[in-house]
Amino acid sequence: MAVILGIESSCDETSAAICIDGEIKSNIIASQAVHAKYGGVVPELASRAHQQHIIPTVDQAIQQAKIRKNDIDAVAFTRGPGLLGSLLVGTSFAKSFALARQLPLIDVNHMQAHILAHFIDEPRPAFPFLCLTVSGGHTQIVLVKDYFDMELLGQTLDDAAGEAFDKTAKILNLPYPGGPLIDKYAKEGNPDSFKLPEPQIPDLNFSFSGLKTAILYMVQAEEKKNPRFLQENIADVCASVQSRIVSILLNKLKKAALQTGVRQIAIAGGVSANSGLRESLQEMGLRSGWEVFIPKFEYCTDNAAMIAIAGYHKFLKKEFVGQDITPLARMHV
Ligand code: KG4
Ligand code: ZN
Repeated sequence: MAVILGIESSCDETSAAICIDGEIKSNIIASQAVHAKYGGVVPELASRAHQQHIIPTVDQAIQQAKIRKNDIDAVAFTRGPGLLGSLLVGTSFAKSFALARQLPLIDVNHMQAHILAHFIDEPRPAFPFLCLTVSGGHTQIVLVKDYFDMELLGQTLDDAAGEAFDKTAKILNLPYPGGPLIDKYAKEGNPDSFKLPEPQIPDLNFSFSGLKTAILYMVQAEEKKNPRFLQENIADVCASVQSRIVSILLNKLKKAALQTGVRQIAIAGGVSANSGLRESLQEMGLRSGWEVFIPKFEYCTDNAAMIAIAGYHKFLKKEFVGQDITPLARMHV
């Protein structure tokens, strides 16, 4: 039997999970409300909140999984990419826990873990598959050849898809993080109300900064005509924005599927919680004859279950690291 404690602290969620023989038994997430009033994550506040949350979060994960500390066989933690101060809290905790209990330590790449979240529950994709990983910090199309053999086919040249949602939300006077709110308002709006440009970026890369500027100019022009423009049109604006971000993402994903001939298509990361993206991918999958994999909501945004499952697959291969391991702000898939 293999009992893995997974720890995630790369950004603003402190999370701990227990995985027993590849099955997730608990996945506790402590979010940090402190950032909302600043309109974005404040790194120093994030690391302090991680310090406050890490011990109760791990305790709760152990309790909910109905195990004892002594039952744990290995500790897996997010090494990067992420905010260095935040990563340091999870890494230091994992190292101390492993040292005190003489347990093997497993480092996990956060971007790989978002993709490996697809191996938590059925149905699981078979290798190779394509994954569109869309989060607050990344937008990538990855060819997944094996658990830890991944090739980056394309990525954003500027803002990530989550940033495009969050920065647009700011323009629309919505609180941080705006992605889920745009999703909510979009449900009541007409996506064809406002025409927004699709950037012409070569290969399988993305760009969202031009779209953000186009939205800002559109809102400014409309507000000149009607100062109550946003209040009166928020649903239509959100629906139009969401529909454009989704079409940018899916058009590139379609191009990647054609280029590689791979027909198993997955999405991962915080933005894969977006209902417009989930629905449009399902439709595109049906039209294109793809097998589509969409994670459960709880495994889209940052969580330790994905770290624990990635850790479990490294545990099977006995891929351990020493106490000299340090976190990395930047890491490739
Ligand atoms: O993966 P994640 O939790 O953290 C990072 O590693 O960045 O992703 C967070 C991002 C934020 O930008 C948030 O606005 C976005 O995911 N997000 C959404 C939705 N839920 C979360 N964006 C659009 N629609 C949603 N429903
Ligand atoms: Zn993430």
